[in-house]
Amino acid sequence: MAQENKSLHWWQRGVVYQIYPRSFLDSNNDGIGDLNGIIQKLDYLNDGTEKSLGVDAIWLSPFYPSPMADFGYDVADYCNVDPMFGTLADFDRLVEEAHKRGIKVIIDYVPNHTSDQHPWFIESRSSRDNPKRDWYIWRDPKPDGSPPNNWGSFFGGPAWTFDEATGQYYMHQFVKEQPELNWRNPEVKEAMLDVLRFWLDRGVDGFRMDVVGLLIKDKDLRDNPPNPNARPDLPENDIYGRLLSVYNEDQDEVHDIIKEFRKLLDSYDDRVGIGELWGPLDRWIRYYGENGNELHLPFNFRLMWQPWSSKAMRACVDELEGALPPFAWPNYVLGNHDQPRLATRFGGQAQARLAGMMLLTLRGTPTVYYGDELGMENGVIPPEKIQDPQGINLGPERTRDVARTPMQWDSSPYAGFSQVEPWLPVSADYQTRNVVAQSQEPNSMLNFYRRLFWTRRRSQALCEGAYKPVDLSGSEPDDCFIYLREQGGERKLVALNFAGQPCKALTGLTGRGRIVLSTHMDRDEEIDLSAIELRPYEGLIVDL
Ligand code: GLC
Repeated sequence: MAQENKSLHWWQRGVVYQIYPRSFLDSNNDGIGDLNGIIQKLDYLNDGTEKSLGVDAIWLSPFYPSPMADFGYDVADYCNVDPMFGTLADFDRLVEEAHKRGIKVIIDYVPNHTSDQHPWFIESRSSRDNPKRDWYIWRDPKPDGSPPNNWGSFFGGPAWTFDEATGQYYMHQFVKEQPELNWRNPEVKEAMLDVLRFWLDRGVDGFRMDVVGLLIKDKDLRDNPPNPNARPDLPENDIYGRLLSVYNEDQDEVHDIIKEFRKLLDSYDDRVGIGELWGPLDRWIRYYGENGNELHLPFNFRLMWQPWSSKAMRACVDELEGALPPFAWPNYVLGNHDQPRLATRFGGQAQARLAGMMLLTLRGTPTVYYGDELGMENGVIPPEKIQDPQGINLGPERTRDVARTPMQWDSSPYAGFSQVEPWLPVSADYQTRNVVAQSQEPNSMLNFYRRLFWTRRRSQALCEGAYKPVDLSGSEPDDCFIYLREQGGERKLVALNFAGQPCKALTGLTGRGRIVLSTHMDRDEEIDLSAIELRPYEGLIVDL
């Protein structure tokens, strides 16, 4: 086995595991997960042995004081912990306990908007001449009283709400309880950089920065043009979906702010900046900075919405690999708290295993969403139990609650998540799909993920090696994605069969290799590399 390579940064070598704190473990029986719950499960994530998952870093979605209009993405105090999640002392203990186990802690930073209950906004809306008026984006109505421009909210309706008391509109591209900060105001920038300092000084290892592409809007707030490709079946109130995001996001000046974030991170040792960024590849790549002076990792969501096909996946990876400048480290995401569960999206458990193997073996940092290691599927949320504002405003099929159901620890009434009814219903499959049951079953998804994590951790080629796709000729059916990962004399081959039928992949390679891991977890023999036989949805990691 190759030695762990120390020349890479932890955020390049490691696997990030996203925890949605409300849904991980409820330690005080109020139906909502909390920081102490996370502390209790750190050994599950990494106790230093292969009995644990082997996670290198956790990213926590927001735990700040919040009225929860958008489940914590509406922050009322950036430098504290909401009592429902615990206290600052609990947070400090979480960092200490995580670090003891070699787990880094990444937290969510929500710079684009605050809660309407944040003291800054309460001041800002109190009068037109309040010193904090300009900390948010206020504009006069048009002469006919309508909003200042045509922008829509991601969660339905216009991006503006009229404030009767002061006679102006304020901007919010999410719910109206999430007013947007004015990042063109230097005081806002300073206050928000102080927030980063506060947490860096407390020992956090990095930030996942929420919707950073939105921080700067067009100076003149011009109308967005109509989207000619808008789906015809959009709900009436989906104004956002009918427009192209030309003036509300990804403005050139945003890069100056991100450079400042980076400068601050670099003044501490080895902290990471990850950004939530969408958009076309050429514009997305700019968030790495001209010479690596912006984000370490703009989140790469590109694989998430590919059709289930080896060709689409490979094209997506090759395009990225071809476009990244040498200083830019790749990363891949297949699931998070905003998207349907990957096992549901890709069509089933077999596909989810294969996708997991791809995620953990491509070149770049993988981020794994809590519960995906069990193959958790979309929860079924009865309409009256929908919590997510996106689902409430844009229709039940758009609710993100489906991916936020409680973590399934065991077969006790609320899946071991809580002793009381949780804030979202536990998925119906929890009695069999849970950590205890899957730990006992040698070939379960959980044991597969453990093997996958540890195989990756132990392999310099998988952590760091070059990515080389293998062209296949005449394979039947041709739905395989095969690549080599090579570093320092170690060579691994990854072969993924996306078809629901067996396949013999003709690789043009010669010689033999030994199987290290199959998605089916039942073989470890030597194979002939020139014609690799794969069962339906089988993936292999092979030592060459
Ligand atoms: C990001 C978050 C999402 C949230 C939104 C507004 O997209 O991931 O959950 O609703 O930003 O903060």
